[in-house]
Amino acid sequence: MECKITLIPGDGIGPEIVREAVKVLNKIGETFNHTFQYTEVLMGGCSIDAYGVPLTDQALDTARAGDAVLLGAVGGDVGNSRWYDVAPDLRPEAGLLAIRKGLNLFANIRPAYLYSQLADACPLKKEIIGDGFDMVIMRELTGGLYFGKRYTEEVDGVMTAVDTLTYNEKEIRRIAVKAFDIAMKRRKTVTSVDKANVLDSSRLWRKVVEEVAKDYPEVTLTHMLVDNCAMQLVMNPGQFDVVLTENMFGDILSDEASMITGSIGMLSSASLNESKFGMYEPSHGSAPDIAGKDVANPIATILSAAMMLRYSFDLDKEAAAVEEAVKKVLTEGYRTADIMAEGCTKIGTTQMGDLIAERI
Ligand code: IPM
Ligand code: MG
Repeated sequence: MECKITLIPGDGIGPEIVREAVKVLNKIGETFNHTFQYTEVLMGGCSIDAYGVPLTDQALDTARAGDAVLLGAVGGDVGNSRWYDVAPDLRPEAGLLAIRKGLNLFANIRPAYLYSQLADACPLKKEIIGDGFDMVIMRELTGGLYFGKRYTEEVDGVMTAVDTLTYNEKEIRRIAVKAFDIAMKRRKTVTSVDKANVLDSSRLWRKVVEEVAKDYPEVTLTHMLVDNCAMQLVMNPGQFDVVLTENMFGDILSDEASMITGSIGMLSSASLNESKFGMYEPSHGSAPDIAGKDVANPIATILSAAMMLRYSFDLDKEAAAVEEAVKKVLTEGYRTADIMAEGCTKIGTTQMGDLIAERI
């Protein structure tokens, strides 16, 4: 198979973790006889430095012309970087929002899984962890507060800022359908998270999700308020299978879910449109404080590449080979600094990539 992959290394630790994921992809290519062609584009702070904007039209077109995008991370140190001395729509993160919208990547899949090898890194008590947990957060990614009208103005001499949370039933239906489809391949349980006791957008969300559920009689649907969900995640994470929610709630809950896996450095994500096209990226940020030091954990990006193989290229066997290689390396006791534990061997970014590639 021939696949055209657009690489967006981005800022901070982005380039070094993407490099390791490419190493692993190339090993997959050699072993299973596929050709991966890469085109690299700039996004985020590095694009601001080169072109004055976080995402150029050409970069977006290049991404659109390929089969999938592999992204590292964008952004810098908000307090210290000159990238933040400009209007919000010219900052690094605006590039990320623009590419999500520009490629219509409305479905953000964020798995949170507790590796038995990393159970000690989980901040929850053993009796709460129980047999572990394995959930997928399905976050709507191109609507809600992130893309609603916003402005700041003076009203009667008082500075006033407005953000708007809008969803239409089509936007809700398409993400709900993805969530139920994924639930059918898993434990057939969907928890739809909203704030229907307060928000109109949540009441519509609930109604549409219930309509979609009628087409999936095998799937059990429950509704949960977002504040309760935040609590349940640290009280009984094992109850969740597929968590379906809107953009902002998903942003917050996915950080919480990732932290209870032990390290945000382990979590992959996929953002998909209606077709097979997707953008794959770690759930963590650009970590400018550790950039270029060969200490970042590349596993989230490597697992994101595995998701790319599975969701965009239908290469299930190859995706499983990557996931197995990651487990092997962890079982052998190799750890980057963020997941280091007593009795394990501490290694850097490059060596982690080498070891995983070798085990494929
Ligand atoms: C994420 C990030 C982004 C988001 C930021 C960088 C804009 O936190 O992917 O979760 O809020 O979506
Ligand atoms: Mg986030």
